[in-house]
Amino acid sequence: MSSESLHAPRDRLSRETIDAHQAIVSLMEELDAVDWYRQRADDCDDPALKEILLHNMREEVEHAAMLLEWLRRHSPVFDRELRARLFTEGAIVVDEDEAPAPAPAPSRPAAPRGFTIGSMKEAP
Ligand SMILES: [Fe+2]
Repeated sequence: MSSESLHAPRDRLSRETIDAHQAIVSLMEELDAVDWYRQRADDCDDPALKEILLHNMREEVEHAAMLLEWLRRHSPVFDRELRARLFTEGAIVVDEDEAPAPAPAPSRPAAPRGFTIGSMKEAP
């Protein structure tokens, strides 16, 4: 495996933790690419090249969104937090005790759940 940014011995990590690590590191890379392409587009004087760079930036946003959705489907904590905070109109920063209840799941077929990674905030 190519990822070398694990913070614990690989043989002590569950398959689910390693999968989550790969998704999180990939999400970080995609967001980094979004930032790079946006800065390069701002700094580019050639209109055609600027448009290519912006196109590439939008593609990286798509990739990041796919990874975020994978995390949501595989982590109850991500699912709860994203349901509570995304696509809302109120204050973004709210006291956790005052946070709105997560929106109910849409009526669509459940995502395949072969496993979950469990809580990422609390000790196992
Ligand atoms: Fe990408």
